[in-house]
Amino acid sequence: MKKRILSGMRPTGPLHLGNYHGALANWVRLQDEYDCFYFVADWHALTSDYEKPDAVPGYINDILLDWLSVGLDPEKSTLFIQSRVKEHAELFLILSMITPVPWLERNPTYKDQIDQLSNKDLSTFGFLGYPVLQAADIIMYKPWGVPVGVDQAPHVEITREIARRFNYFYGPVFPEPEIVLTQTPKLLGTDRRKMSKSYGNAIFLSDSAETVASKAATMVTDPQRMRKSDPGNPDVCNVYDFHKLYSPPELTEEMNRRCRTADVGCVECKKLMAKHLNAFLDPIRERRRYYEERPERVREIITAGTD
Ligand code: TRP
Repeated sequence: MKKRILSGMRPTGPLHLGNYHGALANWVRLQDEYDCFYFVADWHALTSDYEKPDAVPGYINDILLDWLSVGLDPEKSTLFIQSRVKEHAELFLILSMITPVPWLERNPTYKDQIDQLSNKDLSTFGFLGYPVLQAADIIMYKPWGVPVGVDQAPHVEITREIARRFNYFYGPVFPEPEIVLTQTPKLLGTDRRKMSKSYGNAIFLSDSAETVASKAATMVTDPQRMRKSDPGNPDVCNVYDFHKLYSPPELTEEMNRRCRTADVGCVECKKLMAKHLNAFLDPIRERRRYYEERPERVREIITAGTD
């Protein structure tokens, strides 16, 4: 019997390379070893975007296409949508009875987000209760573990505390899930800040080859290197980090050497990187096309997962 794992993602727009390496690549890998449950956390999307619920169905569709195109396989994993399984809301209600408010107020991501998203009014009950809904999402499936990035670790920690408290009152019902931290390679946005949809520096899994090439051309490289005749330093170059992920090792090695000796300019180096990044994205594009042409197949997969 395979151990069960479960994870979710909020549908907030198309996924980018940062999402891929930060979560999806790991989800795909885990499929062979674990009994995987992956779901679209559409109710969680409403905790911050409650003013624009109309955008959510489109985002759900985007995220499902992204998932299927990177190789999440409905034959191996159970894929579903949170709001179609009403028990998420029901257990959320029950858990809210036993969750002390200070646990939620203390949650480091809570204050962080309120400060960062100052353009939204997040002083709502639903936003404070975000981790309670997440706890319900998780423990109702009694998974062995939850693969998440470090940013989500506090939420899974609260989940463990809520499970423990429930079991203390009512007997041992919910196992405390393990936090399975995702290892992520270094990959920044085109401007060298953290890759994020809202910074406009992201390369999306759904970008065309032309878009990828033109985004690559705008990438920030070694800021000290002004002219092609200046030797560069790959260790501080964002494009070099991309080469390490997508180019064959020989080419990466060659770029390293030729950059340091000013034998290659950034324009050419970026073109070569874009070519290999596109080769990485091509099979993803192909699977996306397959599912885009078969919306009824996507609906079937989700209906089966929900059942
Ligand atoms: N909070 C998670 C995020 O923003 C999404 C999420 C909701 C989740 N429920 C979950 C992740 C349960 C893991 C398990 O990425």
